[in-house]
Formats: sequence, C-alpha cells, structure tokens
Amino acid sequence: MNNFSLQQKRVVVIGGSEGIGLAVAQGASVAGASVAIASRSIEKLTRAAATILGPVETYSVDFTREDEVANLFEHKIGQFDHLVITAFTFGGGPITELSMSEARAIFEGKFWGAYQVIKYATPYLSESGSITLFSGNMVVRPSGGLAAATAATGALETLGRSLAVELGPIRVNVISPGVTDTPTWALMGETRRKLMFEKARELLPVKRIAQPEDIAHAALSLMTNPFISGTVLLVDGGEVLSMFPQPEMTAGVGKMTHPLVDINA
Ligand SMILES: NC(=O)c1ccc[n+]([C@@H]2O[C@H](COP(=O)([O-])OP(=O)(O)OC[C@H]3O[C@@H](n4cnc5c(N)ncnc54)[C@H](OP(=O)(O)O)[C@@H]3O)[C@@H](O)[C@H]2O)c1
Repeated sequence: MNNFSLQQKRVVVIGGSEGIGLAVAQGASVAGASVAIASRSIEKLTRAAATILGPVETYSVDFTREDEVANLFEHKIGQFDHLVITAFTFGGGPITELSMSEARAIFEGKFWGAYQVIKYATPYLSESGSITLFSGNMVVRPSGGLAAATAATGALETLGRSLAVELGPIRVNVISPGVTDTPTWALMGETRRKLMFEKARELLPVKRIAQPEDIAHAALSLMTNPFISGTVLLVDGGEVLSMFPQPEMTAGVGKMTHPLVDINA
C-alpha cells in the first residue's frame, strides 16, 4: 500500500507558484496527481510549472478579488479532489499605528482570501477530497507588532475546524508552520534574513530551519490520510517550545514590518 498515492487525483494549490505551495504541488505531482497551481504572477507560475514533472496547469488569480476567484472555479478549473491554500500577503504593525484599512487589508490577504476560495471551490470538490489551509505558529505564541496578522491567522484555524464540521465528508485541516526558508523572507533583506535564520538554527530544538518540503510532507499526509479532519497540525521543529524569537527581536517594531526584520537593527 502506498499511503501517499495521489494517482488519478487532481490537486489545486492556491499560492502554488513558490515557497510551501510550490513544494506541495511538486510533492503531489510525484505522488501521481495532476496539479493546478494558481497565484497572481504569470511569470512565477511559468517558472514554477517548469519544475513540476507531471501534468500541471497554471492559473493567474488574485485570491483577494472575489470576481477573479469565482471566475476561476466556475469557468476554468472544474472538478477536482484536493484544495490547498498557501497564498497570503504579509503585513503587520502595532495596533496604534495601523490604519483600519491597513488592518483590514491584512485580513483580506490571509483570512478572507482563503474564505472566498473555499466558498467558490467547494461545489467542485470531490466528496472524498480535502481542504488544507495554512496558519502559522505565531497563533500559539504571539509576538508584538503582529496582532492583526496573528488574529487573521487564528481566525483561519477556527474556520478550518468549523468547516470540517460543515463540509464533511470533505475533510478540512490546517497546517501551522514555524519559520520556513521560503521567498517570503526576502522582504527582510539578505543580511538580516541570514542573521535571523542563524539565530533560529541555534535555538530550535531540531537545530535547522524548515525547508518547504518539510511542510509539504505534512500537507501530503493530511491530503492522503482519509481519517484526519478538523486538525491544526503544528509543524515547527519545536519552535514554540524554544526561546526563538527572543524578546529583543520583537522590541520597537515599526509599522508594516515583521518583528524579526528588526533583528540587530
Ligand atoms: N515561510 C514561513 O516562515 C511561514 C511561517 C508561518 C506560516 N507560514 C504560512 O505558510 C503559507 C505559505 O507561506 P510561504 O512562505 O510559502 O509564502 P511565499 O513563499 O511568500 O508564497 C506565497 C504564495 O502566495 C501567492 N500569493 C500571494 N498573494 C496572493 C494573492 N493575493 N492571490 C493569489 N496568490 C497570492 C504568491 O504568488 P504571487 O506573488 O504570484 O501571487 C506565492 O505563490 C502562508 O499562509 C504563510 O502565512 C509561512
């Protein structure tokens, strides 16, 4: 028995053009699935598709745009088996500094985007299929300056558990990653990113940073195990049990910056 087989299955990854989403698409393809990857940038999608050996479709969509999401599922993708949503747009800042429109945009780029993808995708999803959402371990141990992002992320976990009940027999699960080496950290700049990763390597119980494949492995488990539903799976190398991030990394966080960005600043 091949527990990870996705032969004859079709997997859709919203956010599949890079990072964890691309690793999930690559892993699903190796497991025999036909994959469809979607994100905003056609260039990134084309580059990503070239790294997937099996059948792959690409779709350009902004998941914060309801019209685009509705059109994608109602007119382009059709029936499929597993939905994975990794897309998010990073944003943060102290509650007193963020305008309400900035705070709402953070929810759009994490929570509402995923919500409307599920709303429009579900009619086309196989009853034996699954939905996998991505939260983040900051829900377990929040740090300063990211209240809106952390709240949006926590809301996504609650959405996943609620939909596991509402959408059954379709299974719904959430993966909560820790710091993972993906293009998202490029926003820090190379020097700070390296410093932050070095600190994480030193402090994490597993003594290394997650690669996207480590997280994708968990996503394939949730997709292929027919009895897991309503779970929030922490995949963070023990980060929430460690001293990472340290308090000085979260001190003096400015608007629209990640606390870790300010390491040694
Ligand atoms: N990496 C980490 O350390 C970490 C830690 C905790 C949680 N997570 C969570 O894990 C998930 C994946 O993170 P990642 O690091 O793999 O992210 P990433 O490398 O930044 O990739 C994000 C993906 O989402 C797409 N995307 C962004 N905004 C979009 C939009 N409005 N509409 C459609 N697609 C959009 C991007 O492509 P386009 O630019 O082409 O749209 C890209 O394919 C996220 O939910 C993140 O919050 C990550």
